[in-house]
Amino acid sequence: MAQKIVAGNWKMNLELNEAKDLIKGIKNSQDDVRVIVFPSSVFINVVAEGKNDNVEVGTQNFHTELKGAFTGELSISQLRSAGATVGLIGHSERRAFFSEGNDLIKIKVNAAVANNFDFIFCCGEPLMIREAGKELEFIKMQLEESLFHLTKEQMMGKVIAYEPVWAIGTGMTASSDQAERMHRAIRTWIHERYDHETAQNVSILYGGSCNQDNAKELFSCPNVDGGLIGGASLKGEAFCTIIDSY
Ligand code: PGA
Repeated sequence: MAQKIVAGNWKMNLELNEAKDLIKGIKNSQDDVRVIVFPSSVFINVVAEGKNDNVEVGTQNFHTELKGAFTGELSISQLRSAGATVGLIGHSERRAFFSEGNDLIKIKVNAAVANNFDFIFCCGEPLMIREAGKELEFIKMQLEESLFHLTKEQMMGKVIAYEPVWAIGTGMTASSDQAERMHRAIRTWIHERYDHETAQNVSILYGGSCNQDNAKELFSCPNVDGGLIGGASLKGEAFCTIIDSY
């Protein structure tokens, strides 16, 4: 069965002491839920040292090479040595503001797989695409161009986050029907490309204005295996309530 996951993406927020305070208050009392926080890279080390048991620390970004002359960049091996166990790939803010296209995202997927580094693969359609009724084709293309080249063995246990761009940071959460329809479609495509076993083993998270008030309803959808939370993960109590929504 797909692993249940609640992940908090802190983005470019919090200063050192705030990050230290926030992580102290994050507790995972659910044995069967994987909880991950993604602080700014500069704080991965202290957050990893200050975290409670059953909470993992991830990186919001990484470079595709392991070392070398790439001023300002951070490699998987460096991030891992600081305490990160998982990375985000393809977040819509990286796509929109840092020109990360499906080709580069595929290279990042390959770098993570080659280095045995877990990742959450993010996909999501902009408002214009949703309004044109083309969201299913759009997401299918993002998956086909950057993820579905993996073999069945590589795909088993992977994590996808569906995050409609129009819902991120806007307060306009997708309805549980909209989320379930897309998540069901994603699982069907995995089944078609791979098989039933693989489709059942991939976790599909929802992201986009998911908070302590709507998490329960979203997580109760049969194909929603958890959430990638932005704004609401910056408040310890709210984030713990989301974890406890299961
Ligand atoms: P949000 O962000 O919860 O603030 O909408 C989600 C995300 O970008 O992962």
